[in-house]
Amino acid sequence: MSLPLGNERRMSQVLNAQDLTRYYSVSRGAFKEAAILKAVDGASFTLERGKTLAVVGESGCGKSTLARLVTMIELPTSGGLNIAGHDIVGATSQTLRGLRPKVQIVFQNPYGSLNPRQKIGSILEEPLLVNTNMPKAERGEKARAMMSRVGLRPEHYERYPHMFSGGQRQRIAIARALMLDPEILVLDEPVSALDISIQAQVLNLLAKLQQQHNLAYLFISHDLSVVKHIADEVMVMYLGRVVEQGTRDSIFKKPQHPYTKALLSATPTPDPARKRERIVLKGELPSPLNPPAGCTFHPRCPIAFEKCGRENPNLVAHEQSLVACHAVNDPYPETKAA
Ligand SMILES: Nc1ncnc2c1ncn2[C@@H]1O[C@H](COP(=O)(O)OP(=O)(O)O)[C@@H](O)[C@H]1O
Ligand SMILES: [Mg+2]
Repeated sequence: MSLPLGNERRMSQVLNAQDLTRYYSVSRGAFKEAAILKAVDGASFTLERGKTLAVVGESGCGKSTLARLVTMIELPTSGGLNIAGHDIVGATSQTLRGLRPKVQIVFQNPYGSLNPRQKIGSILEEPLLVNTNMPKAERGEKARAMMSRVGLRPEHYERYPHMFSGGQRQRIAIARALMLDPEILVLDEPVSALDISIQAQVLNLLAKLQQQHNLAYLFISHDLSVVKHIADEVMVMYLGRVVEQGTRDSIFKKPQHPYTKALLSATPTPDPARKRERIVLKGELPSPLNPPAGCTFHPRCPIAFEKCGRENPNLVAHEQSLVACHAVNDPYPETKAA
């Protein structure tokens, strides 16, 4: 289930995912049956032009897998995915080839994602060379225009990636992602490897580019505080499942799932007088190969009760959000936790 859409929002929608899942078969040795790892287990959401959906959760909760589904690097195990009016599941390779330029991705590590032997100009022009028959002069013009848009100087055109700082390299990666005029940009932890001071600059640049190009962003982060200013909607994931989903305001001002509350309590507040009480979760993140029964969060949950160990809660509308938690959605818990 995703949040209800008005007519206007339906018009600006560029991606619709319904109950998207991606399972992996993981070998457990020669004589054992392979195990099923549910990396993404039923996510429904939409992306809209000019808007940002943030996906947040600890490492291993399925964020990058979701990014690979949305960028069509992998196909879903089940569920529906519609991009720019085309159903991805069952699409011909020709349709997929036509759609791929519309969805571009920026990765966390700006050191690994740029070819060290290529000059910036050629890095930026490569997508045009591969996907279009644009003449060389025009490619150069477009690359230079994009460099200026992301805050790089004209002389950078002839330089190699190693001559740049982490922040500048991420600007190069963003420029490259925009060369084919995509409609959707997937940002997989785009500022997590950068110094705090540089993070804000790159986030501001992303906000500006989003407006200029009317881009839909899927912004992935393990850190809720990073998405506070850029997100329109937030989806919180735990072990492959969406546990809470709502507007930025509802998630930050009125978080409901105990996991969202715990993530939020770990983020810094600008006003030290209003310091949040830190919620420290019990235990370790369980193995996704052997998730706990019932609600997968229950062994770490401060408010779990008996039913939580038995039944996996559905994601249901509660106030302004969708929440998957028995304690939130069931007003009369049978028995309180010890
Ligand atoms: N190709 C794969 N084969 C098997 N397991 C995978 C594969 N890719 C990811 N996983 C597993 O899926 C889970 C989610 O991974 P990932 O999407 O990378 O999470 P995140 O980006 O949130 O850290 C992890 O347990 C990871 O080990
Ligand atoms: Mg990841």
